[in-house]
Amino acid sequence: MAARRIPMLGLVFLLCWAATTQAEYMKYKDPKQAVNVRIKDLMKRMTLAEKIGQMTQIERANASSRVLKDYFIGSILSGGGSVPAPQASAKDWVEMITTFQKACLSTRLGIPMIYGIDAVHGHNNVYNATIFPHNIGLGATRQAQTITSLGFLSLTLYSEIMIRRDPGLVKRIGAATALEVRATGIPYAFAPCIAVCRDPRWGRCYESYSEDHGVVQAMTELIPGLQGDVPPNYAKDFPYVAGKNNVAACSKHFVGDGGTQKGIDENNTIIDAHELLGIHMPAYIDSIAKGVSTVMVSYSSWNGVKMHANRRLVTGHLKKKLGFKGFVISDWQGIDRITTPPGANYTYSVQASITAGLDMVMVPYDYPAFIGTLTNLVNQKVIPMKRINDAVRRILRVKFVLGLFENPLPDPSLGDQIGKQEHRELAREAVRKSLVLLKNGKSSNEPLLPLPKKADKILVAGSHADNIGYQCGGWTIEWQGGSGNITGGTTILDAIRSTVDPATNVVFSEKPDADLVQSNHFSYAIVVVGEPPYAETAGDSLNLTIPEPGPSTIQTVCGAVRCVVVLISGRPVVIQPYLPVMDALVAAWLPGSEGQGVADVLFGDFGFTGKLPRTWFKSVEQLPMNVGDKSYDPLFPFGFGLTTKPAAAVQN
Ligand code: GLC
Repeated sequence: MAARRIPMLGLVFLLCWAATTQAEYMKYKDPKQAVNVRIKDLMKRMTLAEKIGQMTQIERANASSRVLKDYFIGSILSGGGSVPAPQASAKDWVEMITTFQKACLSTRLGIPMIYGIDAVHGHNNVYNATIFPHNIGLGATRQAQTITSLGFLSLTLYSEIMIRRDPGLVKRIGAATALEVRATGIPYAFAPCIAVCRDPRWGRCYESYSEDHGVVQAMTELIPGLQGDVPPNYAKDFPYVAGKNNVAACSKHFVGDGGTQKGIDENNTIIDAHELLGIHMPAYIDSIAKGVSTVMVSYSSWNGVKMHANRRLVTGHLKKKLGFKGFVISDWQGIDRITTPPGANYTYSVQASITAGLDMVMVPYDYPAFIGTLTNLVNQKVIPMKRINDAVRRILRVKFVLGLFENPLPDPSLGDQIGKQEHRELAREAVRKSLVLLKNGKSSNEPLLPLPKKADKILVAGSHADNIGYQCGGWTIEWQGGSGNITGGTTILDAIRSTVDPATNVVFSEKPDADLVQSNHFSYAIVVVGEPPYAETAGDSLNLTIPEPGPSTIQTVCGAVRCVVVLISGRPVVIQPYLPVMDALVAAWLPGSEGQGVADVLFGDFGFTGKLPRTWFKSVEQLPMNVGDKSYDPLFPFGFGLTTKPAAAVQN
């Protein structure tokens, strides 16, 4: 009897061993398997609840381990200004994300969540991160003299030359940004914004590189900066992320966000298909060719059809015609805003958006309502399982490509990347190249710039001279930005002080009165004024005027002293009335944390090279007015920018 039992025991042991081994080996967990094989294996194991959970992105503020596990949440975001704590360190971020991720990994299938954030000009939510110039400034960093010297160049060909002539700057910014984002444990950035802003009255015009799609197309170089270069022979139109020092990118906002009437944010873009495809679509083609991982849908409408409900463009064009294989994400409460008022018919919002082809929904708060509504729509066969499977396949594809299954947890070794000096030097270079010199001297033979470093006494004046928050603009620490020392960096005043000769007496007054200006015999004055920070709809402006005390500071100072005005703004603003009193005018846009870049060029350590990425109007009555328009009568045309040689070159 005992002898007979041994083979039986052996068989039982063998079966248990086989079962255990089989249970441990799941194809989707095997990195040696092809991505599509892993997706297929994982999807066949997923329940409807697990699939819909993957399509759900919630705001950090209402995430918890319990919620993440109970609802199988696939993604979390930080909205503008949403941080673990004020001035949170990289370590604080890493701890928070590790906690969330471990909760997701503890679910039945252990699918890692993807955490997204608006790193749109550096890792701008994070205290002491390097803040790069906003996109409008980066759009100015191109060599437009190519087109003027060659004349006949088409804008598309010109944009190719622009990449060649300044190939690396935007790409290097992307790579530096990716490192700072990864330093906080985050693998996904909602950038680049590839809006083609056609009317500067739009509050988001500074998020747009240019009014010209050729410039915007060239600036999609940010994508390989963030994600890494797509290798040769890589699958066409497939998302690509090189590794742990890179992040998934997001081209936004699809499509026509920058073309709304009067620049009204989230409004209606009323143009024909030729203009939509010719102006607002090209940069998406570049994005897909560069392996962009995700695309975010615009709040706006095209000819009255909400983009979040536009199946023809999201599924028909982006996914089918252009072959995009990453995932499409909504904007913040973007599906709620399909209806007026928002949320008026949430069932319709869910049905219309998912049917249109959206794959992930930035809910971001009422996830029970989203999940419940979508579940009902699938169970009622209003939304076919095929559509859910397409969405989940795309989301898993990005997560596999991103390496999240192999490296789901943050890499704490990158902590020192936040605000790294090397990144700040890069930002300083970008500031230098973004400055556009619009006037230099009241007559061409008496240029004011470059300014002498050695002078008896100089005046620095204006609301924006000593204010990091103002020089960074919106989407900095807070969604709407802020005033004062909101993060680390160098103000323009500090930069001036450290650049001039030690013997030069620098007097600073935010709002000098006539007495001070006239009684001090200043050698010259630098007046730094402009717009206060804003983001999105809060920035919409029908008059585009510089708010007081900017204009009166210009008049008071420049009326009595030779002056250069440095304009801090997210777009062209009304400047013509003050032009005659200025000796020089520099458009500095929203330079970010490295104000030293402004002083570098003002004092001639580097020459002015920037070119207008947008038309500068004479009056708002002319708007919209863009390069190529039949009636084109600008104050300063697209591509305009005076140049100066570095002071050293002039002396030689
Ligand atoms: C915002 C913006 C979008 C951003 C998202 C998340 O409303 O439209 O650009 O990525 O919400 O913050």
